[in-house]
Amino acid sequence: FETGALQGKRVVITAGPTREALDPVRYISNHSSGKMGYALAEAAAAAGAQTTVISGPVNLPAPERVSVVPVTSARDMLEACEQALPECDIFIACAAVADYRPADVQTQKIKKGPDEVHLALVKNPDIVAAVAASDHPVFTVGFAAETQQVIEYARGKLERKGLDMIVANDVSDQGIGFNSEENEVTVLWADGEIALPRAGKSTVAAGIIAQIALRLSP
Ligand code: PMT
Repeated sequence: FETGALQGKRVVITAGPTREALDPVRYISNHSSGKMGYALAEAAAAAGAQTTVISGPVNLPAPERVSVVPVTSARDMLEACEQALPECDIFIACAAVADYRPADVQTQKIKKGPDEVHLALVKNPDIVAAVAASDHPVFTVGFAAETQQVIEYARGKLERKGLDMIVANDVSDQGIGFNSEENEVTVLWADGEIALPRAGKSTVAAGIIAQIALRLSP
Protein backbone atom coordinates (compact mmCIF):
# COMPACT_ATOMS: atom_id res chain seq x y z
CA PHE A 1 0.00 0.00 0.00
CA GLU A 2 1.02 3.62 -0.44
CA THR A 3 2.40 5.44 2.60
CA GLY A 4 -0.48 7.18 4.34
CA ALA A 5 -3.08 5.07 2.47
CA LEU A 6 -5.21 4.99 5.63
CA GLN A 7 -4.15 8.38 7.07
CA GLY A 8 -6.97 9.86 9.16
CA LYS A 9 -8.88 6.55 9.28
CA ARG A 10 -9.75 4.72 12.49
CA VAL A 11 -9.41 0.95 12.22
CA VAL A 12 -10.74 -1.62 14.69
CA ILE A 13 -9.60 -5.24 14.32
CA THR A 14 -10.74 -8.32 16.22
CA ALA A 15 -8.04 -10.95 16.71
CA GLY A 16 -7.35 -14.28 18.36
CA PRO A 17 -9.74 -16.87 19.76
CA THR A 18 -12.54 -16.43 22.27
CA ARG A 19 -12.84 -18.59 25.39
CA GLU A 20 -16.23 -19.81 26.49
CA ALA A 21 -16.27 -20.90 30.14
CA LEU A 22 -17.67 -24.25 31.27
CA ASP A 23 -16.75 -23.85 34.93
CA PRO A 24 -14.12 -21.83 36.86
CA VAL A 25 -11.22 -23.86 35.39
CA ARG A 26 -12.38 -25.05 31.95
CA TYR A 27 -13.35 -23.51 28.63
CA ILE A 28 -14.08 -24.17 24.95
CA SER A 29 -11.79 -22.42 22.45
CA ASN A 30 -9.85 -22.90 19.19
CA HIS A 31 -6.32 -22.73 17.76
CA SER A 32 -6.26 -19.07 16.69
CA SER A 33 -2.93 -17.53 17.76
CA GLY A 34 -3.83 -13.92 16.93
CA LYS A 35 -0.89 -13.67 14.48
CA MET A 36 -3.04 -12.73 11.46
CA GLY A 37 -5.05 -10.10 13.37
CA TYR A 38 -1.96 -8.56 14.96
CA ALA A 39 -0.20 -8.48 11.55
CA LEU A 40 -3.22 -6.61 10.15
CA ALA A 41 -3.00 -4.15 13.04
CA GLU A 42 0.67 -3.51 12.31
CA ALA A 43 -0.08 -2.99 8.62
CA ALA A 44 -3.02 -0.65 9.35
CA ALA A 45 -0.87 1.43 11.73
CA ALA A 46 1.93 1.51 9.13
CA ALA A 47 -0.62 2.79 6.58
CA GLY A 48 -1.31 5.72 8.92
CA ALA A 49 -4.52 4.53 10.61
CA GLN A 50 -5.34 5.01 14.27
CA THR A 51 -5.57 1.32 15.15
CA THR A 52 -7.21 -0.70 17.92
CA VAL A 53 -7.13 -4.48 18.34
CA ILE A 54 -9.87 -6.13 20.34
CA SER A 55 -8.08 -9.30 21.27
CA GLY A 56 -9.01 -12.66 22.70
CA PRO A 57 -6.37 -14.39 24.87
CA VAL A 58 -3.09 -14.63 22.89
CA ASN A 59 0.64 -14.68 23.64
CA LEU A 60 1.68 -11.74 21.47
CA PRO A 61 3.14 -8.35 22.38
CA ALA A 62 1.05 -5.28 21.48
CA PRO A 63 2.28 -3.93 18.12
CA GLU A 64 3.77 -0.44 18.16
CA ARG A 65 1.26 2.43 17.88
CA VAL A 66 -1.66 0.01 18.31
CA SER A 67 -3.96 -0.02 21.33
CA VAL A 68 -5.03 -3.45 22.52
CA VAL A 69 -8.32 -4.12 24.33
CA PRO A 70 -8.14 -7.59 25.92
CA VAL A 71 -11.35 -9.65 26.08
CA THR A 72 -12.18 -13.28 26.87
CA SER A 73 -15.57 -14.46 25.58
CA ALA A 74 -17.55 -13.71 22.41
CA ARG A 75 -20.00 -11.64 24.43
CA ASP A 76 -17.11 -9.59 25.93
CA MET A 77 -15.76 -9.09 22.40
CA LEU A 78 -19.14 -7.90 21.11
CA GLU A 79 -19.44 -5.40 23.99
CA ALA A 80 -15.93 -4.02 23.34
CA CYS A 81 -16.68 -3.73 19.60
CA GLU A 82 -19.95 -1.87 20.27
CA GLN A 83 -18.05 0.55 22.50
CA ALA A 84 -15.39 1.12 19.84
CA LEU A 85 -17.84 1.50 16.96
CA PRO A 86 -18.67 5.22 17.26
CA GLU A 87 -14.97 5.93 16.61
CA CYS A 88 -14.38 3.45 13.82
CA ASP A 89 -14.24 3.88 10.02
CA ILE A 90 -13.00 0.40 9.08
CA PHE A 91 -13.82 -2.79 11.02
CA ILE A 92 -11.87 -6.00 10.31
CA ALA A 93 -13.12 -9.22 11.93
CA CYS A 94 -10.15 -11.60 12.02
CA ALA A 95 -11.00 -13.23 15.36
CA ALA A 96 -12.01 -16.88 15.48
CA VAL A 97 -15.11 -16.26 17.58
CA ALA A 98 -16.71 -19.35 19.13
CA ASP A 99 -20.04 -19.85 17.36
CA TYR A 100 -21.47 -21.55 20.48
CA ARG A 101 -20.95 -21.30 24.24
CA PRO A 102 -21.99 -23.65 27.06
CA ALA A 103 -25.66 -23.08 27.94
CA ASP A 104 -24.81 -23.01 31.66
CA VAL A 105 -21.57 -21.93 33.30
CA GLN A 106 -21.10 -23.92 36.52
CA THR A 107 -20.00 -21.81 39.48
CA GLN A 108 -18.07 -24.75 40.99
CA LYS A 109 -15.62 -27.08 39.22
CA ILE A 110 -17.55 -29.89 37.50
CA LYS A 111 -16.86 -33.19 39.30
CA LYS A 112 -15.89 -36.35 37.46
CA GLY A 113 -18.87 -38.73 37.42
CA PRO A 114 -20.66 -40.67 34.69
CA ASP A 115 -18.81 -42.26 31.74
CA GLU A 116 -20.63 -40.03 29.28
CA VAL A 117 -21.73 -36.44 29.68
CA HIS A 118 -23.60 -34.25 27.21
CA LEU A 119 -22.86 -30.61 26.79
CA ALA A 120 -25.64 -28.20 25.86
CA LEU A 121 -24.44 -25.23 23.79
CA VAL A 122 -26.21 -22.03 22.76
CA LYS A 123 -25.41 -19.73 19.84
CA ASN A 124 -23.18 -16.72 20.40
CA PRO A 125 -24.00 -13.34 18.84
CA ASP A 126 -22.40 -12.76 15.42
CA ILE A 127 -20.11 -9.78 16.00
CA VAL A 128 -19.22 -8.84 12.41
CA ALA A 129 -22.86 -9.16 11.28
CA ALA A 130 -23.93 -6.88 14.16
CA VAL A 131 -21.32 -4.29 13.16
CA ALA A 132 -22.38 -4.44 9.49
CA ALA A 133 -26.06 -4.04 10.48
CA SER A 134 -25.47 -1.10 12.85
CA ASP A 135 -26.53 2.45 11.94
CA HIS A 136 -22.95 3.66 12.16
CA PRO A 137 -21.42 3.72 8.64
CA VAL A 138 -18.33 1.53 8.74
CA PHE A 139 -16.46 -0.33 6.01
CA THR A 140 -16.80 -3.90 7.27
CA VAL A 141 -14.36 -6.68 6.40
CA GLY A 142 -14.86 -10.27 7.52
CA PHE A 143 -12.80 -13.44 7.25
CA ALA A 144 -14.11 -16.84 6.20
CA ALA A 145 -12.22 -19.82 7.56
CA GLU A 146 -13.30 -22.76 5.44
CA THR A 147 -12.14 -26.34 4.87
CA GLN A 148 -14.08 -26.92 1.60
CA GLN A 149 -15.73 -24.90 -1.23
CA VAL A 150 -13.74 -21.98 0.17
CA ILE A 151 -14.62 -19.24 -2.34
CA GLU A 152 -18.27 -20.23 -2.65
CA TYR A 153 -18.82 -20.32 1.14
CA ALA A 154 -16.90 -17.05 1.57
CA ARG A 155 -19.10 -15.30 -0.99
CA GLY A 156 -22.16 -16.64 0.87
CA LYS A 157 -20.87 -15.12 4.13
CA LEU A 158 -20.10 -11.79 2.38
CA GLU A 159 -23.74 -11.55 1.29
CA ARG A 160 -25.45 -13.07 4.35
CA LYS A 161 -23.53 -10.95 6.86
CA GLY A 162 -23.87 -7.76 4.77
CA LEU A 163 -20.12 -7.15 4.51
CA ASP A 164 -18.16 -4.86 2.17
CA MET A 165 -15.31 -7.33 1.80
CA ILE A 166 -14.33 -10.83 2.93
CA VAL A 167 -11.01 -12.64 3.18
CA ALA A 168 -11.34 -16.33 2.28
CA ASN A 169 -8.91 -18.53 4.19
CA ASP A 170 -8.55 -22.23 3.36
CA VAL A 171 -7.83 -23.67 6.81
CA SER A 172 -7.70 -27.31 5.64
CA ASP A 173 -4.00 -26.70 4.83
CA GLN A 174 -2.02 -26.80 8.11
CA GLY A 175 0.66 -24.49 6.67
CA ILE A 176 -1.77 -21.57 6.32
CA GLY A 177 -4.48 -20.28 8.61
CA PHE A 178 -4.68 -21.20 12.30
CA ASN A 179 -1.45 -20.79 14.28
CA SER A 180 0.85 -20.84 11.22
CA GLU A 181 3.49 -18.31 10.16
CA GLU A 182 2.20 -18.03 6.60
CA ASN A 183 -1.13 -17.47 4.95
CA GLU A 184 -2.67 -17.51 1.47
CA VAL A 185 -6.06 -15.88 0.93
CA THR A 186 -8.52 -14.57 -1.63
CA VAL A 187 -10.03 -11.15 -0.98
CA LEU A 188 -13.62 -10.87 -2.29
CA TRP A 189 -16.02 -7.96 -2.67
CA ALA A 190 -19.42 -7.60 -4.40
CA ASP A 191 -18.11 -7.52 -7.96
CA GLY A 192 -14.57 -8.77 -7.83
CA GLU A 193 -11.88 -10.79 -6.14
CA ILE A 194 -8.10 -11.08 -5.97
CA ALA A 195 -5.90 -13.93 -4.81
CA LEU A 196 -2.95 -13.06 -2.55
CA PRO A 197 -0.17 -15.65 -2.87
CA ARG A 198 1.28 -17.66 0.00
CA ALA A 199 3.58 -15.50 2.13
CA GLY A 200 4.35 -14.53 5.72
CA LYS A 201 1.34 -13.14 7.58
CA SER A 202 2.76 -9.57 7.56
CA THR A 203 3.03 -9.62 3.74
CA VAL A 204 -0.50 -11.01 3.42
CA ALA A 205 -1.75 -8.39 5.91
CA ALA A 206 -0.16 -5.59 3.87
CA GLY A 207 -1.92 -6.98 0.76
CA ILE A 208 -5.30 -7.02 2.54
CA ILE A 209 -4.82 -3.45 3.82
CA ALA A 210 -3.91 -2.32 0.28
CA GLN A 211 -7.15 -3.86 -1.06
CA ILE A 212 -9.19 -2.14 1.68
CA ALA A 213 -7.56 1.23 0.87
CA LEU A 214 -8.37 0.69 -2.84
CA ARG A 215 -12.04 -0.25 -2.35
CA LEU A 216 -12.87 2.19 0.44
CA SER A 217 -15.36 4.79 -0.68
CA PRO A 218 -13.83 8.25 -0.15
O1 PMT B 1 -5.00 -16.20 14.62
P1 PMT B 1 -4.16 -16.99 13.63
O2 PMT B 1 -3.53 -18.21 14.28
O3 PMT B 1 -3.15 -16.13 12.93
O4 PMT B 1 -5.14 -17.59 12.50
C1 PMT B 1 -5.80 -16.72 11.61
C2 PMT B 1 -7.23 -17.18 11.35
C3 PMT B 1 -7.23 -18.52 10.64
C4 PMT B 1 -8.01 -17.28 12.67
C5 PMT B 1 -7.86 -16.06 10.44
O5 PMT B 1 -7.13 -15.95 9.25
C6 PMT B 1 -9.32 -16.35 10.12
O6 PMT B 1 -9.66 -17.04 9.16
N1 PMT B 1 -10.23 -15.78 10.97
C7 PMT B 1 -11.68 -16.04 10.91
C8 PMT B 1 -11.97 -17.25 11.73
C9 PMT B 1 -13.43 -17.59 11.77
O7 PMT B 1 -13.97 -17.77 12.85
O8 PMT B 1 -14.08 -17.62 10.61
P2 PMT B 1 -15.63 -17.98 10.38
O9 PMT B 1 -15.71 -18.35 8.95
O10 PMT B 1 -16.09 -18.97 11.42
O11 PMT B 1 -16.37 -16.63 10.66
C10 PMT B 1 -16.72 -15.71 9.63
C11 PMT B 1 -16.54 -14.28 10.09
O12 PMT B 1 -17.51 -13.97 11.11
C12 PMT B 1 -15.19 -13.93 10.67
O13 PMT B 1 -14.86 -12.62 10.27
C13 PMT B 1 -15.42 -13.99 12.18
O14 PMT B 1 -14.55 -13.10 12.89
C14 PMT B 1 -16.85 -13.51 12.26
N2 PMT B 1 -17.64 -14.02 13.41
C15 PMT B 1 -17.91 -15.35 13.53
C16 PMT B 1 -18.72 -15.80 14.56
C17 PMT B 1 -19.22 -14.86 15.49
N3 PMT B 1 -19.98 -15.25 16.51
N4 PMT B 1 -18.92 -13.55 15.36
C18 PMT B 1 -18.15 -13.11 14.34
O15 PMT B 1 -17.89 -11.90 14.23
